Amino acid sequence: MRVLISKPQIELRIAELAREISRDYGGQSITLLGVLNGSLMFLADLVRQLDLPSRIGFVQATSYRGATTTPGELDVNPGLVPDVRGRQVLLLDDILDSGVTLTTLKQRVWALEPASLKVAVLLRKRGRQQVPFEPDYCGFEIPNVFVVGYGMDYNDEYRPLPYVAELP
Ligand code: IMP
Ligand code: MG
Repeated sequence: MRVLISKPQIELRIAELAREISRDYGGQSITLLGVLNGSLMFLADLVRQLDLPSRIGFVQATSYRGATTTPGELDVNPGLVPDVRGRQVLLLDDILDSGVTLTTLKQRVWALEPASLKVAVLLRKRGRQQVPFEPDYCGFEIPNVFVVGYGMDYNDEYRPLPYVAELP
């Protein structure tokens, strides 16, 4: 598989994002809300570099079902969502593709009355967005290819790869 973003590139960029986020929140405590399963690595690496008191929570949303690279209907598991009322929430996802997942999740999380809500994505795919959505933080822009690794899967495989690769 062709490596699109190497491990050192990811590490460098996450360190930059962590500095930016730490500066923006100026010492306030934040709740990182990771979208499972894809944001697992991103969240784990980012949170350890934040110079902020941080809490960790998860939401589970699935739009890709099994062996397909086109999105289905979004399935949100409400049972996992922690109480975020009055908290500074940063929603984290692996990749912004059509924008449907993050648009839907942002609405759901706003309904829980956080004090603030921002969104960080590791990747953003060019030319794919169906709904306008601007993340507050973005690691890398990538071309319109299906990627795996660093948390991202194809049919639940390849998540453990330490780099982002293009699925052939
Ligand atoms: P969206 O709702 O179309 O923006 O899709 C976002 C979700 O689709 C992400 O959370 C990923 O789980 C998944 N996804 C989109 N593109 C890719 C890809 O290239 N590889 C793996 N997962 C992807
Ligand atoms: Mg996902």
